[in-house]
Amino acid sequence: MDIKSALFKCSSQFVDQCPKDGRPEFAFIGRSNVGKSSLINMLTNQKSLAKVSATPGKTRLINHFLIDEQWYMVDLPGYGYARVSKNERKGFSEMITRYILEREQMVFLFLLVDSRLEPQKIDLEFIQFLGENSVPFGIVFTKCDKLSQNKVESGVALYRRVLKKSWDELPIMFLTSSEKKMGKDSVLDFVESCM
Ligand code: GTP
Ligand code: MG
Repeated sequence: MDIKSALFKCSSQFVDQCPKDGRPEFAFIGRSNVGKSSLINMLTNQKSLAKVSATPGKTRLINHFLIDEQWYMVDLPGYGYARVSKNERKGFSEMITRYILEREQMVFLFLLVDSRLEPQKIDLEFIQFLGENSVPFGIVFTKCDKLSQNKVESGVALYRRVLKKSWDELPIMFLTSSEKKMGKDSVLDFVESCM
């Protein structure tokens, strides 16, 4: 699949403010600064559809982007960002949890992890939460341009080993770099296969 049009639709603070047209949604989540907004721009061939920032915590609302007038990409706020107040963090996590558990239109969740890091506690806990709630999700390794191919592969292998300890079935995994436009077809072909 190649995307022909991508338009910003709306930003929502609460799930009940999200679009009500029933179009299917594919959402992107992960730690703050992992590259969610950059990935959305890469997939849609746009430079600044989703706002990218070197400072973590840029995306603070649920952002809907209408793709080819048929489906939505949803940019969710990053979790685990320390430099917001406790109250704000609680608000974010409530927003994310409610979106994930209540949003019937959400077909699939892409969980982004930084390919340079070993499995992080916060991500593993999040995966646990997704598994326990039967949320369909896959893991997207980001910023693969920053590592050699060998290092990327050993990082993925480590992730598999860690997940195997708790899960029989492993989620689908994607290797990406927004910088190098890597992984675009595998992500978009997967989306197409879900619709
Ligand atoms: P929040 O909205 O703050 O949660 O962050 P985010 O997950 O949306 O990350 P964002 O896309 O804003 O990117 C964070 C930083 O990582 C920016 O400085 C990007 O330029 C950089 N970045 C994102 N993707 C890549 C990538 O594939 N390769 C490289 N080298 N840098 C990347
Ligand atoms: Mg963002």
